[in-house]
Amino acid sequence: MPLVPMRQILDEAAKGGYGVGAFNVNNMEQIQAIMQAANDTNSPVIIQASRGALKYSKMIYLKKLMEAAVEEYPHIPVALHLDHGNSVETCKMAIDLGFTSVMMDGSLAEDGKTPNSYEKNVEVTRAVVELAHPLGVTVEGELGCLGGIEDGHGAGLSDEAVKDHLTDPAQAEDFVKQTGVDALAVAIGTSHGAYKSGRKDPKTGEVLPPTLAMDRIHEIHKRMPHCHMVMHGSSSVPQELVDIINKYGGKMPGTFGIPIEQIQDGIKHGVRKINVDTDSRLAITGAIRKVFAEQPEKFDPRDYLKPAREAAYQVYLARMKAFGQAGHAGDYKPMTLDEIKTIYR
Ligand code: G3H
Ligand code: 13P
Ligand code: ZN
Repeated sequence: MPLVPMRQILDEAAKGGYGVGAFNVNNMEQIQAIMQAANDTNSPVIIQASRGALKYSKMIYLKKLMEAAVEEYPHIPVALHLDHGNSVETCKMAIDLGFTSVMMDGSLAEDGKTPNSYEKNVEVTRAVVELAHPLGVTVEGELGCLGGIEDGHGAGLSDEAVKDHLTDPAQAEDFVKQTGVDALAVAIGTSHGAYKSGRKDPKTGEVLPPTLAMDRIHEIHKRMPHCHMVMHGSSSVPQELVDIINKYGGKMPGTFGIPIEQIQDGIKHGVRKINVDTDSRLAITGAIRKVFAEQPEKFDPRDYLKPAREAAYQVYLARMKAFGQAGHAGDYKPMTLDEIKTIYR
């Protein structure tokens, strides 16, 4: 089966009332682990690559790995998505490479840091929609800014400043109308990475859960019941994965993630795409550290990449079940870009 337009995967998820994990990849092991988990749970899935991932994998390697993935699992609908495209040119490059979906993150300027004006966001996002839809390619836009900056995406906003950059539901309605995006990434107080909470108990110094504006999601869903929302920064940062890292020499104090129950609440209210990268990174790092610490004589990369792949697989498997996509791979006949093109027209 060729790669599927992401729009169809999201439309079907809306019909079925479930969410779909969008997992970031940089290498073969992650792609294999995702596909194995999708196969074992019979899940449709979204695989996404950031600009950093494309640079790391030199693009063509990632493209060929994805070709192998769809060839090995022809019964699994898979969309290949560009994560946080920073310009029309970057999105065009991904489309030319064969991506079936792109994100134009016009919430930030091309540097990936400075918040854009609303007008600029509409302008660049609409330009990508005009380019992508005639080719059958899905477009995700973003309104509002995530917190944090640790991975190079984000305005580096403090917990307080983030509150001023949450997605405004009325503006969201206008944004979707003006741009024609297929999916809308919303800012509700999440951030990328393993440190999603700047809140500490003033007495004990203990890290407190991040406060999420779930009401924004509820309100947007009420206003636009057919809008597919995207939650970025949705890793749950399981303490047990962080504990493994710390046990074997890592130093990651004070981490915090998004509880699965909050994501599930989002799914009940129109969230269809859930972005997860950090959880896979944690699982992989912990597994590799364990081998290095317990078997320091090992030097064959397969001795640590195999457990790393297995650890990532367990994360994907758990998320696919929790988000509800499990069991839905065979629900529909996947469309080609050519078929969906005619619908956009
Ligand atoms: O958007 C954030 C993802 O975790 C990708 O991060 O740019 O380090 O590949 P990256
Ligand atoms: P996490 O860092 O929480 O995994 O979020 C990833 C993400 O949003 C990619 O766009
Ligand atoms: Zn993101």
